[in-house]
Amino acid sequence: MIVGNWKMNPRTSENAVDLANSVDNRLADSGLFEEGEARCVSTPKREVVLCPSNVHLDKVAHWANHSKLGAQDLSPYDKGAHTGEVSGAMLRDAGCEYVLVGHSERREAGETDGTIKAKVGAALKNVLSPVLCVGEKFEERQDGRANEVVTGQITKALEGLTTDDMGKVVLAYEPRWAIGTGETATPEDAEAMCTHIRGLIANLFNQAVADRIRVLYGGSVKPDNIKSLMAQANVDGVLVGGASLNADDFADIVNFDREEDNEDEE
Ligand code: PGA
Repeated sequence: MIVGNWKMNPRTSENAVDLANSVDNRLADSGLFEEGEARCVSTPKREVVLCPSNVHLDKVAHWANHSKLGAQDLSPYDKGAHTGEVSGAMLRDAGCEYVLVGHSERREAGETDGTIKAKVGAALKNVLSPVLCVGEKFEERQDGRANEVVTGQITKALEGLTTDDMGKVVLAYEPRWAIGTGETATPEDAEAMCTHIRGLIANLFNQAVADRIRVLYGGSVKPDNIKSLMAQANVDGVLVGGASLNADDFADIVNFDREEDNEDEE
């Protein structure tokens, strides 16, 4: 599973259409998708999700035929007097199947564990799969508290969910010090945390849920580090920020296991 988080980019809807279209053309040529389907988005080989800004959802939905649509955040509330908020029902209506919850940039802006838990609930209630983002700060890793911090974030966000609910949840480990900084966790560090997370899910729910859940890594993922990250047994995909704004880079990330061009080919 490869998720592109466009954050507050690009500036115009024309640019968003260009980007969606460029990504889509490259995915169409990737050989990862069955031909001939109107919306060939669920091949067994790869699931791609694009998370543009809310104002571009409609346009991107129109152009992105080889990816699913996700939002970057949602309101914990259902409806009503919440100026500036966008509800899960609205996102679902706009064509979203996924929504990021608890991204570090939202936590940085003051989002609490309680709000994140409410947002996970709001996503599930509206048939959206929450991609719950967790991760420690640099100082917390230095202090040897990374596992403890991530355990706390996950335990609080998923409290009260059923094993059925968990069938829709995706987890993304994004060490906060690796986001947008060019720093990437080593593949071994990413694997160690993703393994820890899977073990935690087995404890909180059961082994079947832990085996099934997708655990992504995020933080400065690029074409040149994707292979080593995806080679890890417990890394099931990636959440890509900066590199998802370049169609070539993003397509290379999606296509990380493509054989090098066949020399016999003319
Ligand atoms: P980055 O962002 O790839 O630019 O580090 C990742 C993210 O914020 O999800």
